[in-house]
Amino acid sequence: MKLLIERNAQDLSSTAARLVARQVLTQPRSVLALPTGDTPRGMYEVLVGLEQRGLLDLSHVRAFNLDEYLDLPEDDPRSFRSYMVRHLWEQLAAPPADWFIPSSNPADEQGECAAYEEALCRTGGVDLAVLGIGPNGHIGFNEPGTPWALGMHVVTLAEATRHKEAARFGGLANVPRRGISMGIKTIMRCGRIVLLASGEGKAEILARALLGPVTTEVPASVLQLHPWLTVVVDQPAAGALTTP
Ligand code: F6R
Repeated sequence: MKLLIERNAQDLSSTAARLVARQVLTQPRSVLALPTGDTPRGMYEVLVGLEQRGLLDLSHVRAFNLDEYLDLPEDDPRSFRSYMVRHLWEQLAAPPADWFIPSSNPADEQGECAAYEEALCRTGGVDLAVLGIGPNGHIGFNEPGTPWALGMHVVTLAEATRHKEAARFGGLANVPRRGISMGIKTIMRCGRIVLLASGEGKAEILARALLGPVTTEVPASVLQLHPWLTVVVDQPAAGALTTP
C-alpha cells in the first residue's frame, strides 16, 4: 500500500487527478471505475481543467460508476447519474461514448446488475478504480456486513449513510432506502485502486480501515489485501494514522 498525505483537500484533488490522468495518458482506452460524493468533486474539476488545456483526452476511456441510488428518477438532480453529468461529462469538450452507470429506476433490478457485470466483463476488467470511504467504512454502497463475494448487487442503505445524505434530500424520510453497487469481489479485481479520504470526519474510520483487522464490519479494510492500492488523504483525514 502506498499512502500519500496531502496538505489539504485541494492538493488531494490534484494528486488524485494526476493518478487518473497518468493512467489515461499511458492507456487511453483505460477502463475506469468512478465514485461520486463530496471528496472526488475537486478531482473531477482538475481533470476538466487538464482537458480544457489540451493535456488530457478522456474520450476513449470506458467509465463505470461504482453505485447509484434506487427508487429515484434517473434525472433527479440528486442521482449519481446527474452528479456525473454535472461535475464531469458535460464539462468535457469530448466526453467518452462508453459510460455505464446503473439505472436508479430499472424495470428489472437483477437484469440491471447482470447487464453491468456483462458490460464490465466485455471490457476485460477495470484498470483503475477511484474509491471514497463512507463514515461507516463503506466503499461503493457496500455497507458494513456485506459479504465479500458479491458482484453488482442491490443494497439496503445503512442508516449512517442515509443520515449523511439527509440534508441533500431535504430530510431523512426522502433519502432512498436502497441502492445498487459494484460488489467487493468486483472491486478487488480492479487492477489498481486509489482510495480518497478527506476531512477530520474520516480520520477514525480511515485508521480502522487501514490499520485495523480486515473485516466485513469495515468494508474498506478489505483493501489492505489489494496488491496495488494507493491511499490519498489530506492531513485532517490522516489525523488518526500516526501514533503520538
Ligand atoms: C459514491 C460512493 C461512496 C462514497 C462515500 C464517501 O459513489 O461510492 O462510497 O465514496 O460515501 O462519500 P463522500 O466523498 O461524500 O464523503
